[in-house]
Amino acid sequence: MSAIPALNTLADKLDRSGATEIVHPKHPRSICIINYKGGVGKTTTTALLGIYLAKLSKKKVLLFDIDAQCSLSLAMGFDPEKVSNTELTVYNLVEPKAWTKLKQKKLENYTQALKSIHLPKNLEIIPGSFNTDELDYLIAKTLLKDEKRYLTELFLYIKQLLLSFEEEYEYVLVDCPPNKMFLTQAMLRACSFYLPVTIPDQISIYGMPRLIRWVCQIDPPSDRPKLLGYVLNALNRAGGGMVGSQQRAHFDLIKGVMSTLQADERAVLGDKALVGEIPRLDVIARFLGEDKSAITEFNVKKSGQPTVDACMTAIRNVVIDRITRYNGN
Ligand SMILES: Nc1ncnc2c1ncn2[C@@H]1O[C@H](COP(=O)(O)OP(=O)(O)O)[C@@H](O)[C@H]1O
Ligand SMILES: [Mg+2]
Repeated sequence: MSAIPALNTLADKLDRSGATEIVHPKHPRSICIINYKGGVGKTTTTALLGIYLAKLSKKKVLLFDIDAQCSLSLAMGFDPEKVSNTELTVYNLVEPKAWTKLKQKKLENYTQALKSIHLPKNLEIIPGSFNTDELDYLIAKTLLKDEKRYLTELFLYIKQLLLSFEEEYEYVLVDCPPNKMFLTQAMLRACSFYLPVTIPDQISIYGMPRLIRWVCQIDPPSDRPKLLGYVLNALNRAGGGMVGSQQRAHFDLIKGVMSTLQADERAVLGDKALVGEIPRLDVIARFLGEDKSAITEFNVKKSGQPTVDACMTAIRNVVIDRITRYNGN
């Protein structure tokens, strides 16, 4: 583990040397769902947002599972034990020996059609692999040979990989692990946008302003993904609003986030960086686990909390509106 933090600074060193100054296009509707903290709802948000974007889109929506825990693959109905052992996971797509061979990759082999009758037909996923952790070590080992060359190669490869899905896939969503390793960094840089997710409690919100500051410093600025705002997950409500401790944590988060925004982000987000709220609901936990048929209950109101349909439709619409405004169309 000790070699990794030192290597993380390479990206900055490289950028300062100007090696990545050439502007390369990105997939214009690619979103990195991120937070360096685990258990806050990144996978939940990726799965639900993917479903609700797919419901509206005439094209396809692609999900990337880059977390070694493979939770998104599980949430989409794959058995991670099985998919992890195939040659068609995110591991095989981004391992160093693939970096110069994008044209030879048959990408349609990786976007295995989901078999679930409950999920939208136009929703696809690049499944995760339990070996993704080792992949970061493999990348680190490759960088030791020639850091400048291979870091540039990695960033470029991931960007071109996401871009190659542009024609068929209207949206690409990347579900990140709770770390800042090379693959996470590369995906974050390769995406046009990022969407942090947090639970509104003091410990969960703690690192988010730092994450946003870190992204703001990405150089060259053309590589900087733009903030779509943040999602609050797992809300507990009392009398229609957030419980007191959650309200206080959210107040601190607003202060932290608003003070870090760039001018282009301020122009789109105004004074409201919040994208929307997802309540803590049993139906969500059941859906993410074994029970995909729970999706049929997404519009059923069982408590004082809003339904999944209500909150995810609102979140999806804000995401689409902000992407449209950032992209100037
Ligand atoms: N809104 C929610 N309602 C109910 N359960 C949730 C909700 N969000 C997350 N969970 C539960 O919490 C766990 C962690 O969420 P997850 O999305 O996997 O977090 P992360 O991807 O940030 O690690 C999941 O297993 C899920 O069952
Ligand atoms: Mg996750």
